[in-house]
Amino acid sequence: MAEQVKKPIKITETILRDAHQSLIATRMSTEEMLPIVEKLDQVGYHSLECWGGATFDASLRFLKEDPWERLRKIKDRAKNTKLQMLFRGQNILGYSQYADDVVEYFVQKSIANGIDIIRIFDCLNDIRNLQTAVTAANKEKGHAQVALSYTLGDAYTLDYWKDMAKKIEEMGANSLCIKDMAGLLLPYTATELVQALKETVNIPIQLHTHYTSGVASMTYLKAVEAGVDVIDTAMSPFALGTSQPATEVMVETFKGTPYDTGFDQQLLAEIADYFRPLRDKALDSGLLNPKNLGVNIKTLLYQVPGGMLSNLTSQLKDLHAEDKYYEVLEEVPRVRKDLGECPLVTPSSQIVGTQAVMNVINGERYKMVPQQTKDVLSGKYGATVKPFNPEVQKKCIGDAEIITCRPADKIEPQLEKLKKECAQWTQQEEDVLSYALFPQVATEFFKYREAQQTGVDAKVADTKNGAYPV
Ligand code: CO
Repeated sequence: MAEQVKKPIKITETILRDAHQSLIATRMSTEEMLPIVEKLDQVGYHSLECWGGATFDASLRFLKEDPWERLRKIKDRAKNTKLQMLFRGQNILGYSQYADDVVEYFVQKSIANGIDIIRIFDCLNDIRNLQTAVTAANKEKGHAQVALSYTLGDAYTLDYWKDMAKKIEEMGANSLCIKDMAGLLLPYTATELVQALKETVNIPIQLHTHYTSGVASMTYLKAVEAGVDVIDTAMSPFALGTSQPATEVMVETFKGTPYDTGFDQQLLAEIADYFRPLRDKALDSGLLNPKNLGVNIKTLLYQVPGGMLSNLTSQLKDLHAEDKYYEVLEEVPRVRKDLGECPLVTPSSQIVGTQAVMNVINGERYKMVPQQTKDVLSGKYGATVKPFNPEVQKKCIGDAEIITCRPADKIEPQLEKLKKECAQWTQQEEDVLSYALFPQVATEFFKYREAQQTGVDAKVADTKNGAYPV
């Protein structure tokens, strides 16, 4: 290997976002993060993923924290490393589509509060749902990374991914991500995919996967050899299982090769020492379920992301129907096919999962249909790669209008109206964005915040310690 040109592999550390989202239901608090940020900042990471995805919702809903404040506090302590977030395209960090003015303002404020790199994806891989966020990030001088939501199926050929990558580069993305939320990308397939994409685009390519199916470290090895530029890893105490491969392991693997990261293992060991007691605490409390730490080969059989598996388990538990688990798992791919064989990633993963549960529990398929399923079938989330099942579509939405344009073109500007609605609670410009995404949850949080500040309503303030549903 001596004659090979050096090409150190870059690493995005996910411990402050995806790792705890995948393993402990996004419950790591700002207080738990801050003491270690300065050390993380010394490692030499390409970026620290620390915001977006479920962190925003979980902060407001369960931790009673202002997500914007968390971002600012992390930024204060991470002077050298770029901060990265995950962004659900036109769905922002929520579960349905928003008007362009809200998307643009969210991107603007994310960057103003400290985000450098925004990873933007769409749950149906509908390119039209990415453009507003990409253009906004370009305008704010942020790095717009666009993700392919990786999935399997007849439609998802190498040509499909190459075509999508080309369009992403043309739309103004600064880099491309292969986002494999379920850990479906196998090592030798990664070689083919990365090579094909490298031949297609000039922008850097990052690979994001999960350890769920047990192949992820090997997938990274093959992807790096095939020329991928950046990989996502998590510090070992919150690695593996439904999370990412361990940072220290990948660093050691590439030591002395052309891909050597140059990271200091001693420093990484100190960081791991900090997080290990948090892992132990989560194991003791049951927040970290040991089941999520092993290899789950079902994810390959049913193509279901790890987070979705645990959602299904808890939905069935609530319905006292845990014995229906395997029936539901088998129903998931059928519902997915009916809904145009979409990728399974928030929010499509929740929509398909909930529908599968209902189909099994009610003993009749599509007897009960949540609004979100209807919205998918009427095109309100965008276009799918394959057509919807026409019989299912008819049964669920009848003769309702079907949207074929970019769905947000049908949504009037929302920002001014939202500002008025939450005016009485607003303490910072960003509050309207929290309110836009989660009106009820944000209002509860605003009330809590006010009570904390004034000390008037101790009852509300107390809810942090247990009274809120978790
Ligand atoms: Co992920």
